[in-house]
Amino acid sequence: MLKLFLLVALSCSINLIWAGTPFKDCGSELATVQLFEVTDCPTAPCKFIKGKTYAMNLTFTAKAPSKTATVALHGVIAGVPVPFPLPESNTCNLGAKCPIGQGDINMASFSLPVLTTYPSISLYVKLEIKADDQKQDYVCLLFPATITSGAAKTKNLVQWRKGKLFEMI
Ligand SMILES: *[C@@H]1O[C@H](CO)[C@@H](O)[C@H](O)[C@H]1NC(C)=O
Repeated sequence: MLKLFLLVALSCSINLIWAGTPFKDCGSELATVQLFEVTDCPTAPCKFIKGKTYAMNLTFTAKAPSKTATVALHGVIAGVPVPFPLPESNTCNLGAKCPIGQGDINMASFSLPVLTTYPSISLYVKLEIKADDQKQDYVCLLFPATITSGAAKTKNLVQWRKGKLFEMI
């Protein structure tokens, strides 16, 4: 009984430690990413079903101050970044405490509406949080995603090999 309890406790704590969406850093110059989470995406690639909205939480420790910061999302399609419009991109309205001070830990929570007009493709999503005062990124990260209507066949624009999702561009 005790063994079972320990096993359950252990697997819960492992889950906590490993919670988050896998990503690759692409130049988080002015911050350290503490945790990145996308709705229903504990493993890569994220599956984005058209018509749904996906929430993202990003917790970061700033290495430099900035009065404001701005979130930008791009789909990297054949190496070319195409912007994903966000309903709100000012992190001061997304949970971050502004002005952002050096050493502050903030969580920005934002949402990506996956429009039904988006093509069914696999791609990389590039997420940036810009430190507006510094003209540099707090955070830059990339994660693989598949946009799908659920039924239609998706077109792969990036070559993913098993276990090599982050070898690219
Ligand atoms: C984001 O954080 C909020 C508040 O902590 C939580 O309720 C929500 O489930 C989180 N969403 C994701 C996608 O992790």
